[in-house]
Amino acid sequence: MLITFAQINGFKNLADISFTPDEKYNIIVGPNAQGKTNLLEALWILSGCKSFRGSKEKDYIAIDKDSLSAGIKLLDCLREHKIRLDMNRNNGKSFSLNGVKLKGSRAVFDVFKCIAFIPDDVDIIKGSPEKRRNFIDMACSQLNPHFVVYLNKSNAVLNQRNALLKAVMLGKDNPDSLEIWDRQAAAVGAVISNMRYQYVKKINDICGDLYKTISGGNEILSLEYKSNVYKQADFNPYCNDAAVQKYFDKLHESADYDIRTGVSHTGVNRDDVLIRINGLNAKDYASQGQIKSAALVMKLAQAEIFMRKSKDAPVIFLDDVMGELDENRQRFIFNIVKDMQVFLTTPNENAILPGINGKILRMKEGRIV
Ligand SMILES: Nc1ncnc2c1ncn2[C@@H]1O[C@H](COP(=O)(O)OP(=O)(O)O)[C@@H](O)[C@H]1O
Ligand SMILES: [Mg+2]
Repeated sequence: MLITFAQINGFKNLADISFTPDEKYNIIVGPNAQGKTNLLEALWILSGCKSFRGSKEKDYIAIDKDSLSAGIKLLDCLREHKIRLDMNRNNGKSFSLNGVKLKGSRAVFDVFKCIAFIPDDVDIIKGSPEKRRNFIDMACSQLNPHFVVYLNKSNAVLNQRNALLKAVMLGKDNPDSLEIWDRQAAAVGAVISNMRYQYVKKINDICGDLYKTISGGNEILSLEYKSNVYKQADFNPYCNDAAVQKYFDKLHESADYDIRTGVSHTGVNRDDVLIRINGLNAKDYASQGQIKSAALVMKLAQAEIFMRKSKDAPVIFLDDVMGELDENRQRFIFNIVKDMQVFLTTPNENAILPGINGKILRMKEGRIV
């Protein structure tokens, strides 16, 4: 997958950006606060995802402007696509794909596959279970469009169930009404659990190999899916009726407690992924350097899995990663992404591995100079 042309105007401080990226490496260089990360962010948002650094949509438009426009031409193994985003302070945002205006962003998400690594991604290791669930869910969604459907359904059912729990807690509804939501939650939750389990198993294998290399051969990174419904031995290659029934039974068992507290304590909304380095929980025991390497390796493994499955490489965005890594580690990373188009930012181009040839984009006050 290749971005063959990009145009951005009015996204944060970016103005009059228009360029033809290199097929391989695009190195965005400039001092702090010039718009390097903004450039990655604008391209990323064209994949239909929310900002990778948690920016609010209302802050996408430059403070001194009323609208933004951004667009790319994207080549995948089938055809050239044109993706466009227009945003206006009054009318909100709209995507278009190949000239057709879209209702939401789903259609661009299904076309433009990209993976970003930013300094905050250490939170995948250090942060709350939600960060790890989001990582796995994003990876599963990119691989399998059905996963998004199940996830949306699961979230909708969870909201309904929680609303009902509160109503029952207040004596305004009957506990028997829970069953209808629990049946639905079990039907989708069992599938999500299975897909998460299969994904973590796959990424665990790849992360193990990659981390061994990046750490010089003596450290072991492992990932294990922690479902709060199933044990590891419960999983089968596919979700079956027994798995759905087990999920339902678990929901049923926790119903009394859930009613007393007014929230659901059981199900995919409470899952986690246990990440270990040399057998110890990385969240508690790993050093800063280990945490950073582990998070990076997880993103690279995500790219590797996507490429193996779809035979098309995702576009890679690396924000401020290379500068801190020695030549060996950089060489290792460039080797993994060698068949992918990469956009990376750095304040210091001399810190990039010698011999990495690509396009240098110099950013100054939101423009490429
Ligand atoms: N909505 C906005 N309108 C205009 N400028 C913005 C907006 N949001 C952020 N900026 C500016 O973007 C710059 C930071 O850009 P960023 O891409 O993070 O820099 P860096 O080159 O260090 O990666 C700052 O100068 C900031 O003031
Ligand atoms: Mg930056």
